[in-house]
Amino acid sequence: MRQIPPALSFEELTLRNFSPHTFASVTHYLYQTTISLIDEFMAMLDHWTFERRSHSYRVARLSLAIGEQMGLSHRERFVLGVGSLLHDIGKMRIPREILVKPGKLTEDEWAVMRKHPGLGSDILNRFPALAFAREIVLQHQERWDGNGYPQGLKGEQIVLGARIFAVADSFDAMTNQRSYNKVQDPKEAVSEIEGRSGILYDPRVVRHFCALGNPADWEHRLREGEETLLHEIFPLEGFVGLFADPETMEEVPAF
Ligand SMILES: [Fe+2]
Repeated sequence: MRQIPPALSFEELTLRNFSPHTFASVTHYLYQTTISLIDEFMAMLDHWTFERRSHSYRVARLSLAIGEQMGLSHRERFVLGVGSLLHDIGKMRIPREILVKPGKLTEDEWAVMRKHPGLGSDILNRFPALAFAREIVLQHQERWDGNGYPQGLKGEQIVLGARIFAVADSFDAMTNQRSYNKVQDPKEAVSEIEGRSGILYDPRVVRHFCALGNPADWEHRLREGEETLLHEIFPLEGFVGLFADPETMEEVPAF
């Protein structure tokens, strides 16, 4: 009679079959899969919202510049970059007629719209290689004074990554044409953000944002090199770093 081999656990199976060479191949395979997944998510989101991913790309670059100015670690910047890039991913689950509706939304439509951070965090939670960025996605519409959504978090209850993102996103919204706004001069936008420091934005983040200097000197850099941005934000070393400590892998903090 043919013997059925006992079932192996995932760990036993990988230990038995993984040479260092296959381990490197599998890591690379996962890395490429994750990069392509982010890229495809961005394309699907553009298609669904009729927007261009350049907005998310610019915001991710500015978030990273502020993060660097604040002296964040390599890992913290990595989480910040991915979270900023995917912040609106939950809009893929919002009906299109609400997303692209011309004119004002009704109260009911707003209630649906305000679900997008939670929906985005649910999506990321399904992908272990992206789940570390879910807090930033969940909290990206929160505001320092507690008047944001979905949870109405206040001050330092909001993760630092989401507080940095809020400044970067506002600057981008003010200085680029969206359907509803008038385009502001970048210098004006910086002073407007300064004026709302401690109200909408974390004062410490605003201080570091202002320390970037005159936006005329750095603003053009936000638009450069879209092709390489994904690898910059999501470097192979950062990805491998996520696996460096299996004890903490379950909960990579969103700092
Ligand atoms: Fe959003």
